[in-house]
Amino acid sequence: MGNTSQYPSVLQKKKHAFPTDSKAIVFGASGGIGLSFLKACLIDQSFSSVVATYRDRSRAAGIFQLANQFPGRLEGFALDVTKESDINQVPDILKQEGDSLHLAINCIGILHEGNDFQPEKRLEQLSTENLLRYFQVNSLPTALLAERLLPFFRHRDRSVFATVSAKVGSIGDNRSGGWYGYRASKAALNMFIKTAAIEYKRRSPNTILAALHPGTTDTHLSKPFQGNVPPEKLFSSDRTVQQLMDIIYRLDSTQSGDFFSWDGTLLPW
Ligand SMILES: NC(=O)c1ccc[n+]([C@@H]2O[C@H](COP(=O)([O-])OP(=O)(O)OC[C@H]3O[C@@H](n4cnc5c(N)ncnc54)[C@H](OP(=O)(O)O)[C@@H]3O)[C@@H](O)[C@H]2O)c1
Repeated sequence: MGNTSQYPSVLQKKKHAFPTDSKAIVFGASGGIGLSFLKACLIDQSFSSVVATYRDRSRAAGIFQLANQFPGRLEGFALDVTKESDINQVPDILKQEGDSLHLAINCIGILHEGNDFQPEKRLEQLSTENLLRYFQVNSLPTALLAERLLPFFRHRDRSVFATVSAKVGSIGDNRSGGWYGYRASKAALNMFIKTAAIEYKRRSPNTILAALHPGTTDTHLSKPFQGNVPPEKLFSSDRTVQQLMDIIYRLDSTQSGDFFSWDGTLLPW
């Protein structure tokens, strides 16, 4: 699937509640979309324990505020996804919360970072260093996490491993070009999700993997590119997450490995 609009929207499927005493982990919870996902998980009383990762404590104030607001339910820990040693610690952190996981959401991503790291408008702007960084942050972590999280997902309940992707990573939908590194890294991310979903079907059949396009959302990442976005098409991160959680609650195992837009429709690869 992931290539046609003739399939009905996920929003026509029925909602599944997560079981009581579920565990969730949000990667990149210091970011705009990540922090809203963290809030949504804490508001859902099914999750007795939620783990949140941040790269830099100085930008993670929102997580610590939520930890005070929801005492005993939230643990934060530092994770830089460009360091495999940090990714290797994820299982140990999760073990402190128990043996099982019901929801993992990867909200980590980069589009720009300072003057030397900006999305490319033309071929002359390509640099190996920047291209590798896009893949290192936007693509590889989901594949590595699929391996590290697998033992925690192998239980009898329905579980979801969602990654925030981007429509500009759709090859079929690419009409305007540019943003070589970001687009290619999101296309690679989608391939990792699809491939891991096939292996999970065998090894953890109750886990649904999904790539989610959030729509243009008012965060640090989109800030420099919001100029041409009409106000009604620029979502707050809380609205985006409400829409994406609605999808997460409705996904079933027949849809594992697919690429969904914020409105529940399938996106072309
Ligand atoms: N906003 C949009 O319009 C839009 C549209 C399509 C797709 N997306 C996708 O949505 C996801 C969330 O983005 P956002 O809009 O919420 O942007 P954001 O506010 O900039 O959040 C990005 C998150 O990624 C984290 N991060 C970056 N590099 C990292 C690294 N090396 N290790 C660990 N964490 C790292 C950031 O940590 P720090 O806080 O430390 O920087 C932050 O938590 C991204 O995958 C993005 O590609 C966003």
